[in-house]
Amino acid sequence: MEHQLHVLFMWVTLVVISVVSGARGKQHISAVGDPGMERDELRVAFEAGNFCNEVGEEAPGMGSPRAADCFDLSNFSVRHRVAEADNKLGVGKPFPGAVNNVDLYAVQKELYLGSLCQVEDTPSPWQFWMIMLKNGNYDTKSGLCPENGKKVPPFNPGRFPCFGKGCMNQPILYHQQTQLLGGDTLRGSFNGTYDLGSDIGGGLDGISFFEVVWEKKVGAGSWVFSHKLKTSKKYPWLMLYLRADATKGFSGGYHYDTRGMLKTLPESPNFKVSLTLDIKQGGGPKSQFYLTDIGSCWKNNGDPCDGDVLTDVTRYSEMIINPDTPAWCSPKSLGSCPPYHITPDDKKIFRNDTTHFPYQAYHYYCAPGNAKHLEQPVSTCDPYSNPQAQELVQLLPHPIWAEYGYPTKQGQGWVGDGRTWKLDVGGLSSRLYFYQDPGTPPARRIWTSIDVGTEIFVSDKDEIAEWILSDFDVLIYTSPIHK
Ligand SMILES: *[C@@H]1O[C@H](CO)[C@@H](O)[C@H](O)[C@H]1NC(C)=O
Ligand SMILES: *[C@@H]1O[C@H](CO)[C@@H](O)[C@H](O)[C@H]1NC(C)=O
Ligand SMILES: *[C@@H]1O[C@H](CO)[C@@H](O)[C@H](O)[C@H]1NC(C)=O
Repeated sequence: MEHQLHVLFMWVTLVVISVVSGARGKQHISAVGDPGMERDELRVAFEAGNFCNEVGEEAPGMGSPRAADCFDLSNFSVRHRVAEADNKLGVGKPFPGAVNNVDLYAVQKELYLGSLCQVEDTPSPWQFWMIMLKNGNYDTKSGLCPENGKKVPPFNPGRFPCFGKGCMNQPILYHQQTQLLGGDTLRGSFNGTYDLGSDIGGGLDGISFFEVVWEKKVGAGSWVFSHKLKTSKKYPWLMLYLRADATKGFSGGYHYDTRGMLKTLPESPNFKVSLTLDIKQGGGPKSQFYLTDIGSCWKNNGDPCDGDVLTDVTRYSEMIINPDTPAWCSPKSLGSCPPYHITPDDKKIFRNDTTHFPYQAYHYYCAPGNAKHLEQPVSTCDPYSNPQAQELVQLLPHPIWAEYGYPTKQGQGWVGDGRTWKLDVGGLSSRLYFYQDPGTPPARRIWTSIDVGTEIFVSDKDEIAEWILSDFDVLIYTSPIHK
């Protein structure tokens, strides 16, 4: 008996090792619940946010801006776990955890939808891919967004787009629940507009629009997520991302518990992100398409965030692949560059070293508005567009990123150059500059959100972006990555 158990144990161990390490001996496991988006029984959710990732006010008849499409397949039919009545839940309607404040209601609704979608797994359960839609309008007279996490009184407009009262509204959302078509194809969608009272069925001229359609052949390949985002005069700044978020704790840009797909949180340097991206339309010169935007949160003293918005700082790094995006960082604008660059062989190059610093590799760096010991010159990040202070390290395609599998030339991965990428996001993010108070132990760089999508930043005409994303995976290397 003991011998048999031992043999069984050996056999199980071997199976586990071969599954984990793969045919060529790579030591990695997937950090996401749905590796490569290959699971037929999809888990996908939707969240919309205002300028500081809150709700402010629900759109009439739409409920709280959280929704989900999660189903199981049984006997060749789709069994939905989330009813349309759940998706329409809004303030005043009860569910386990419901509260009266519109912002907190959305938080609780996300947790509730998560409980309906949750898949048990090791090392922890997971809930869904998250589609995030954001409206960049800010009504400075509304007093709705804090400044670096601090509540501030209303102030005069001018710095942000807003057509007037109500410009921070939540969208109209239509949902086509996933259906089985022709016996072997699954398809569903979310779409809608920010222009309340408009009819997207009558054409999109002059109105904003967003859409994500997901489709998959049963038992084969990846889910294919087709995205569309259109700005309008009233809504010139819109963002649409597909995110792998933390399954608990704060995902990037949030100061409350969220639900997501990252059943293990990736930590720099030992992880990679693979995905297939095919951009059909770029969205104009202001479209900052992110070939991954990674988000996390830590305090300026290196401590992890704890929900105190006055000292928590959201940290983002983004690779912008629109070739129209210029490097604002330059020898003449050192304040738009990080204080230094670190090479793959760990050499530090200061930004005042004009012969060696790779200015063209950085679009823009901005420091947290609550940092106390900033090196001058410096540009601080927009203090209103997150619930707390933020720091941004925005990159551009450049030969110095070759080591990490990122685009090395402007235009790579752009319209007409669809590719499958395997990005050493962990390696690169371990060598980026992020602000910390002098003398404090370096923060652990644990990433709670990995996003792909675009931010069309204040366009002066209606712009349309269209892209297709599939095969998304986050791979954690259990031994150091060998080059
Ligand atoms: C499976 O579906 C078929 C056709 O709809 C039906 O006749 C059958 O009873 C179902 N079986 C089960 C176990 O539900
Ligand atoms: C939006 O989705 C609905 C299904 O929910 C579909 O009927 C409609 O055609 C879509 N609208 C546009 C403009 O694509
Ligand atoms: C360049 O910047 C570094 C770091 O701020 C500083 O120590 C050094 O003195 C500067 N060098 C020159 C030539 O200004």
